[in-house]
Parts: sequence; structure tokens; C-alpha cells
Amino acid sequence: MLEPEQIVRLEPGAVVLLDQRRLPGAFEEVRCKDAKELAQAIRTMVVRGAPAIGVAAAYGIALAAANGDDLGEADRVLRAARPTAVNLAWALDEMRDDPSPEHARRIHAEEVARCRRMSAHTAGLLSPGTRALTHCNAGGLATGGYGSAVGALLEASRRNLVSHVWVDETRPLLQGARLTAWELEAAQIPHAVIADSAAASLMAAGEVDCVITGADRIAANGDTANKIGTYSLAVLARHHALPLYVVAPSSTVDESTATGREIPIEERDPAEITERFAARNPAFDVTPAELITAIVTEHGVHRAPYAESLASAVAA
Ligand code: MRU
Repeated sequence: MLEPEQIVRLEPGAVVLLDQRRLPGAFEEVRCKDAKELAQAIRTMVVRGAPAIGVAAAYGIALAAANGDDLGEADRVLRAARPTAVNLAWALDEMRDDPSPEHARRIHAEEVARCRRMSAHTAGLLSPGTRALTHCNAGGLATGGYGSAVGALLEASRRNLVSHVWVDETRPLLQGARLTAWELEAAQIPHAVIADSAAASLMAAGEVDCVITGADRIAANGDTANKIGTYSLAVLARHHALPLYVVAPSSTVDESTATGREIPIEERDPAEITERFAARNPAFDVTPAELITAIVTEHGVHRAPYAESLASAVAA
């Protein structure tokens, strides 16, 4: 498993990011010398995954403070980098009163600690022999260490509860096929990458026991934005009477967004889909709370109705 500092760290004069676009083929780093360069790295997915984006932004503010740059401008440019992952805005808000490197490092360490706690809660929901299906990458790469949905699979595997993981390849940028599969391979958890469209028939064949995903933003009522394709999995899981577990830290819960309807959905360059034809590329979708069996944060397992239970998790 990668150490948190291998994924994102602050060095004198730079935020250093493991280039996730090049994985698993190459292990290369990108050095961002100011908030503008970091925002560009976030936009182009050098670093991606909601909590990891937040951690990187916290380091970006600490870097701007050390450089003597305008902190308001650094906040503005970073905040605009990606709209759906609320951890970005959350981390920038956290850094407002104390833009020190120590504070940014504390945010990073606390995010990883939250991952470990929610992974243990999620493992408690699984039975021996579980065949889980996951989407996108919600591993250590996406959280700055350990992982949310993949962290839960690591902990469940440690308890001998996981027999197999189906890994959605996750079109169009293949976070599943490139990043989740790489992390599961490193953890020696049996897995197989599948085309996103294979999930339905595997469920119908009785080869899936549950779906486990991360989240980019959870509205106050439990509606959850995650990588495009998660909503289809939720509908399929309900049809096949399978549980869908969403695993995310409280920094992903956005109490100021009442329902999923108000979550901004990032539209990315259509060229990520095809350069030859017209295309549309929404990067996330919203799964209604009623299709989610449980949302797991570091505070425990939340079940519908979510509003009260999530509010107390955020307040804790
Ligand atoms: O576009 P990405 O790769 O940043 O999307 C990431 C996801 O959708 C993850 O599932 C989500 O951020 C949760 S990561 C712990």
C-alpha cells in the first residue's frame, strides 16, 4: 500500500503529486509550484478522488502562504478547479483561519484516519465469502491514503470476508481498470476488471453480493453524487435485491446542499469520450438516497432517513 506522502505531499516550494494519469504503467511525480499550477493538476486529474483533491488543495493554500501569494486568489483558483467533489471547498474553508503547513498536514492525516474508521464500520456489514462490486477508484489514491470503498475491502479482506471483487473499468478514464485493480493487486485481493455494462448480467447470474462505492458529495438528505455510472449500479442493485453501501468521510457530507438536485455536476471535455464525433461527458451522477442501503462515515453506519443521522455526523 502506498504511504500518504507518496500520493500527495508538501515540500519547500511545491505541492508534489503522484501522477495518477500515468498509473499503473509509470510512477511519476508532478511538482506544482503555486496554486495555479495545482489547480491545473486537479483539473487534468493528476490528482483525483474527492478527499485527495481536498488534501491537495489544503497543501496548495499552505504553499501560497509560504510563497507570500494572495491567499484569496489561491482559494478562488483552487475552488474552481472541479465543481462536484465537495471536499475541495471543505478543505479550503478549513484552511481559512490557519493556512500553515502543519494544519494542511493535520487535515491529510485526519482524512486517512477517517478512512480507517469508516472501513472498519463497513467491514462489519459484510459476511464471509462476499463478492463485492466497486466502481471508479475509491482507494488510497483517491483519499490521500488507505481509501474509502477500497479501504473497506482491504479491512474486510483482512478479516477474511472477501472472496472476490468485481472492478468496473469506469469509462471513460478507466479509474477502475487502471487504479482500483492496481491497488487490489498490491493488496492481493482476488479481483477481475469488467466492462461497466457487464454488471447487470453478473448480478442476474447471482455472482455479486453487494455494491460498494465512494462519494464525491452527499447532500443533507443522503442523495449522493459519485462517478458517472453509480446511479445505474444503484438501480441494478435494487432490482436484484443487493445492498449498495456508500463509504465516505464526513468531509464529503454537504449540509448546505439540501438534495441531489442542487449538486453541481462536472461536465468534462467530450474528447475524453471520442474525438471523432459529438459527445457529452458528465463526470458524475446522483444516486437518490432511497436506493442506498447505508452510508458509512467515520462515525458509523447511517441508514434512511439520513438527514438527522448525517447532520449529527457532520456536527460531531
Ligand atoms: O473523477 P474522479 O476520478 O475524481 O472521481 C472520483 C470518484 O468518483 C470517487 O468514487 C469519489 O471521489 C470517491 S473517492 C474516495
